[in-house]
Amino acid sequence: MKSRGIWWRATLCACVLVAAGCHLTTNVEVGAHTHVNVACSVHHDTVVGELVTLSPGVLLNGDVVVEDHAWLGPGVIVGRGVRIGRGAVVGAGAVVLHDVPAGARAHGVPARIQGAR
Ligand SMILES: CC(C)(COP(=O)(O)OP(=O)(O)OC[C@H]1O[C@@H](n2cnc3c(N)ncnc32)[C@H](O)[C@@H]1OP(=O)(O)O)[C@@H](O)C(=O)NCCC(=O)NCCS
Repeated sequence: MKSRGIWWRATLCACVLVAAGCHLTTNVEVGAHTHVNVACSVHHDTVVGELVTLSPGVLLNGDVVVEDHAWLGPGVIVGRGVRIGRGAVVGAGAVVLHDVPAGARAHGVPARIQGAR
């Protein structure tokens, strides 16, 4: 594992890749086989599940949950307290202010649900 800027009380499960330029702050959990790509910021009390992809430049603003198998495109911003459901896809550049249901596809600013994955 190669990591940068991981603060205290971050829990990284097996085979997590945290690329260069990322910040993981307090009480962050990242599940197995998840990829935290370059320049992501994962803020406090956030849980990222297994087999998740956080593309470059994703920002999770705290108290966020990203469930297993979700895919977040480059530059996605997720607001505080939002839950991204299992297997959801969030398109590049989206600003997500409300929960995204499992298996849904969302994009835009603010993000809107576009249908199923
Ligand atoms: C998720 C993603 C692949 C789009 O999926 P999609 O649903 O297949 O989108 P489509 O190409 O079929 O486009 C459908 C419509 O949504 C729009 N759209 C697609 N992605 C969009 C986005 N991220 N933001 C705003 N609008 C978007 C398209 O313009 C199109 O609009 P139109 O019908 O008015 O022409 C795309 O949003 C994305 O994130 N691409 C980035 C891929 C990438 O960077 N990969 C490398 C990661 S490291």
